[in-house]
Parts: sequence; structure tokens; C-alpha cells
Amino acid sequence: MGKPVFYINGKFVEENEASISIMDHGFLYGDGIFEAFRAYKGRIFQFNEHMNRLYDSAKIIALNIPLSKEEFKKSTVVVYVVPLPGMKKDRSIRIIISSYQRPSACILPGSSKMTQYINLILARMEAKARGVDDALLLDTRGFVSEGPGWNIFLVKDRTVITPSIASSILVGITRNVMIRLFKELNYTVEERDVVVSELFTADEIFGTGTGTEITPVIEVNGRKIGEGKPGPVTNRIDEKFKEFKKDNGTPVYE
Ligand SMILES: Cc1ncc(COP(=O)(O)O)c(C=O)c1O
Repeated sequence: MGKPVFYINGKFVEENEASISIMDHGFLYGDGIFEAFRAYKGRIFQFNEHMNRLYDSAKIIALNIPLSKEEFKKSTVVVYVVPLPGMKKDRSIRIIISSYQRPSACILPGSSKMTQYINLILARMEAKARGVDDALLLDTRGFVSEGPGWNIFLVKDRTVITPSIASSILVGITRNVMIRLFKELNYTVEERDVVVSELFTADEIFGTGTGTEITPVIEVNGRKIGEGKPGPVTNRIDEKFKEFKKDNGTPVYE
């Protein structure tokens, strides 16, 4: 395997030269943006969409990336690759509604993938302490927002509902793919404010994200959702997503 190359302040350097000042804002305060990609069989999924979000994240915090998207794509900057654990056959999760909220966009713009994840980590710790798999956070208005690393979808009859950008969500790449696939399957998709009681009356709920793909949510605050197992619409979109993944990817080595 070749040596990793690091790109720091406009220079390509080796690992032992890859250093930053201890006064650097990223080091001191954790300021920064990042992006996480997923590759299936050597092909990066939704590469352009992830690159666009990276540049949008930079714009939101007024960070100048001194490379064009094309230059960025061609050069190895820092690539940290980890195999993701295989998916469990039954990936269903039980969640609680966290006492932590997603900050409003005028406190921290959630649409930028910024490094301040402590809010989400606290929510996840709360969930683990209460003996469930994960947490769902509301926005500061009390509407449903998102989980730590995943967007949420509700299914009610043939309507698919997901919180809009107004609910302090990260606009997930997987979420956008889901919306597109549901529309192709002729479902009605509503991006809007979601109230907590809609969770309890939903037929099905699932989360979406690069790390977790599609994760059925079978219990919220101790209450069973639908039949308490992955529902037919979740299974249908999972199949459709599998097909989509096969045909959509940018080879890692072009
Ligand atoms: C806070 C948050 N919401 C949602 C998501 C899902 O986004 P994507 O589908 O782009 O992975 C992520 C991804 O890591 C996230 O960090």
C-alpha cells in the first residue's frame, strides 16, 4: 500500500511533516467541516452530491477551499478508509426522543456538515443510558428533526413524510436519494414539519444515512410503531435502494 499523503495549508506533505499550530482554531475549538463518503465494491456512492455538500458546508462557514471541485477530486488529500461492519440481518432499532434539541439554523446551521457533533453524541449517550439503540432529536420549536447521523422518514398510508430543512436537519444525501426513489414508485412525499404524535400513529418509520443506510425504527419511547417490525414500504424501498446502489457509483480509481 502506498504512503498516505497529507494536504495542509496548500502543501502536500508526508505524515511526519503533517502538523498544525496549537493555536489553530480547528485544534483549539474543533471548528471545521467534513464529509463522509461510502464506497460499494470500489465505487463511491453519490460522489458529486457529497462533493457539492462539502463545498456548500465550506461556503456556510465562509471557508475558502483553494482547489476547484475537479482538482479536489483528482488529488489525494487525506483519505481515511475503514471497512464498515456488515449489516445485521435485522437492523431494526428502538429509540427515545432525546431531551437535547437540534440547534436552530441561526445558532448552528445544520445544513453544513460541521464538526460540532457533541450535541448528537450527548443525545446518543442519553439513549444508551436508557437502554435503547439511539435517540431522535426535536428542533427548538418542538418538531421532529433527526437522529445522530441519520434522517427520519415516516410512512402513513401511501404518504411518505420527512422533516424539511426548516427542522434543523442535515440534508442527507441518502435522504435525497430516498425522496427520488419514492417519487419514482409513485408515493406522495411530503417534506414538512412533523409533530411528535405523528410518530406514534405512523405505519412505519425508518432512518437513512451513509453509515446506516436504511434502518427501521420499531419503537419510540417504549411505544411500538406499526407492527413492531420492518414494514412493507421500508422493505420495498430497501430493495429499490439496493438496485440504485448497483448502478450508481464513481470508481475510486478512474
Ligand atoms: C446529523 C446528520 N444527519 C443526517 C445524516 C445523514 O446524511 P447522509 O445521508 O448524507 O449520510 C448525517 C450523516 O452523517 C448526519 O451527520
